[in-house]
Amino acid sequence: MELLKNTLRIGLEKPVKLLHVTDTHIALADERDDERKHALAKRLRNPNKEKYLAEHIAYAEENCGLLVHTGDLMDFVSHANVDKAREILKNEHIFFIAGNHDYSQYVGEAWEDSAYRMNSYMQMGYGLGVPMFFNARTVGGVNVVGIDNSYYHFADWQIWRLQREVEKGLPVILAFHDPLFEQSLYDYHFEHVPEDCTYLVGCDEEHLLRYSEFRAVQQRPDAPTLRMIDYIKSEPAIKAILTGHLHFSYESMLTPTLPQFVTGGAYDGIARELTIL
Ligand SMILES: [Fe+2]
Repeated sequence: MELLKNTLRIGLEKPVKLLHVTDTHIALADERDDERKHALAKRLRNPNKEKYLAEHIAYAEENCGLLVHTGDLMDFVSHANVDKAREILKNEHIFFIAGNHDYSQYVGEAWEDSAYRMNSYMQMGYGLGVPMFFNARTVGGVNVVGIDNSYYHFADWQIWRLQREVEKGLPVILAFHDPLFEQSLYDYHFEHVPEDCTYLVGCDEEHLLRYSEFRAVQQRPDAPTLRMIDYIKSEPAIKAILTGHLHFSYESMLTPTLPQFVTGGAYDGIARELTIL
């Protein structure tokens, strides 16, 4: 595994360490799964994914208060992947919030919206045995709050829930799959990755101009999403954001006091240790 290290100074009495892991993309299928899932599993299978995940879990258990996984634990919904993910998430040292692939039936085959997500959620047996759409856990004086934004949008009920977490009075570390728009990250993405979009939440119309029509429709923020971003940027209790989805590592400041950490793909072994002081 490859370990990135960061320190966040927020005035804690005792340091807290989080291991941020994202985008493991486990790709398994067994006799219960259909031919298309087997074809996906064959194409995307890589035993290193499970090897690195085991290393990440072992490292976190040894060195960190919590492993924070920001989604795409599985590459697609199959019986074999769901069983594996449910088994992994029984480990109480792991905090999870879902990504787009955790609901994907056949990668890239359909318009993915909340109805599509709920269909997969029901098929998994009400998700993966942990809260999927909003999750919070206190570890050593910080409140880790996970919010599902896997399809580039937030909902008003998630703002309400986040406000209730903030009211608990602890510093908040946010965890979600899709990073928020930030100019240098947007520029970096277009410079270094040959894509027709940047997969960031909250791009305004000017920044969506470079997108293909499909990606602009998919990623254009709605009113609740913009309200959530305004709230996150204005709430001083929120100290950092952990995200993934982009499969490369990047760090930048969303506001003068709020860092956003994008961590690269765990399928490549990457993890980020955040020491909070
Ligand atoms: Fe993703």
